[in-house]
Amino acid sequence: MMRDAQTFEPQDGRLTRPAFWSALGARWTSDIEETLVCCQVRQETHDVKSFFFMSREGRTFSFEPGQFITLELDIDGETINRCYTISSAPTRPHTISITVKRVPGGKVSNWLHDNLRPGASVRVLGPAGEFTCARHAAGKYLFLSAGSGITPLMSMSRSHHELGEDRDIVFVHSARTPDDIIFARELDLIAANQQRFRTSFVCERIGARTNWPGITGFLTLPLLRLIAPDFMEREIFTCGPAPYMKAVRDLLEEAGFDRTRYHEESFSFESLSPAEQAAATDDAAEPADAGGADAQARFSVTFAKTRRDIECGAHEHVLDAAKRAGLRLPSSCTQGMCGTCKVKLVSGEVDMHHNGGIRQREIDQGMVLLCCSKPLSNLVVDK
Ligand SMILES: Cc1cc2nc3c(=O)[nH]c(=O)nc-3n(C[C@H](O)[C@H](O)[C@H](O)COP(=O)(O)OP(=O)(O)OC[C@H]3O[C@@H](n4cnc5c(N)ncnc54)[C@H](O)[C@@H]3O)c2cc1C
Ligand code: FES
Repeated sequence: MMRDAQTFEPQDGRLTRPAFWSALGARWTSDIEETLVCCQVRQETHDVKSFFFMSREGRTFSFEPGQFITLELDIDGETINRCYTISSAPTRPHTISITVKRVPGGKVSNWLHDNLRPGASVRVLGPAGEFTCARHAAGKYLFLSAGSGITPLMSMSRSHHELGEDRDIVFVHSARTPDDIIFARELDLIAANQQRFRTSFVCERIGARTNWPGITGFLTLPLLRLIAPDFMEREIFTCGPAPYMKAVRDLLEEAGFDRTRYHEESFSFESLSPAEQAAATDDAAEPADAGGADAQARFSVTFAKTRRDIECGAHEHVLDAAKRAGLRLPSSCTQGMCGTCKVKLVSGEVDMHHNGGIRQREIDQGMVLLCCSKPLSNLVVDK
């Protein structure tokens, strides 16, 4: 693991480290203080960096391990939102960190790696999300992750460790090669300190290493039975790329695992394949029958920039109608939490029920979240 920590250089006189200790009471929220300042960048692996943030005002952070924040970045004249899980633990409330893997061709992950330096300010929304062990207390956990999907489980592991909880946790992380394992040394340290915390790393191949004592291959049901013979008794949290999560779901289904004790989070943005788009266009001709006179009311939604018009039922979220019509719009949580689907409403009225993904100031300026807005009239959006 490479560790090239950069030191924090304050860029103005307002930010001082001692402010930490005098401000334990004041909590950060994106409504009060919408920017955070990057205070450290840490190289975790060859293509993964952690970015640490603090509040300029010295506020502390309150969140549940596994939750995410949304960064709002201005890149090439465009405002772009992306969600990143908080990889640090809430037990260290003075800073939060995110851990970002470069995605080949990806706009934001590469921009962060190449441009975000200590001292820079970033607009942040959140924390949000329900993928957290804090809401599913259990004596025994199984954490399954692959690639950058390790971040929420790392936050949960760090929390357990720092709280000195005596929970039985088996953490199985899959990576391409041993050199791609994020947080390998820290996980080993936690395992050394906590009697009932065990790690297993499963690597597709050994890469540049000549000696790799871990497992090579892919996670399978027989392998899981070997690593955690009692996995059927555990509360399971899974995070990773879509194919990995499907493989996990399939193997747990084969084992007959109780789905109510299975929790997962996907990092993938929802996007439509050409086949899905074709199917979507067919579906768009047959809007769902929600029943009732009001439910049959239909409104037009005009996307001014792309010059597309779609129809949206009164009881349908605009994002769902747009997807059904084959439009590719940025979205992530689809529950009004992350702000990814935020757009300016040029005209018309919506009924919006968000979960913190938009600030009151933005609502006052005519912004809406399409994933949780139903039309009350014909709409024109600036998209
Ligand atoms: C709740 C949540 C938590 C997350 N937590 C983390 C985390 O902790 N760490 C982390 O690293 N990531 C995390 N993510 C993923 C993160 O939000 C981003 O999706 C990721 O960093 C990629 O963003 P990007 O802008 O770099 O890539 P994008 O620009 O969105 O591109 C993604 C992929 O699509 C391809 N692509 C882009 N545009 C096109 C196009 N026009 N045609 C064809 N292909 C295209 C790119 O080549 C790339 O392969 C999380 C996501 C969610 C939803
Ligand atoms: S997709 Fe997350 S707020 Fe709409």
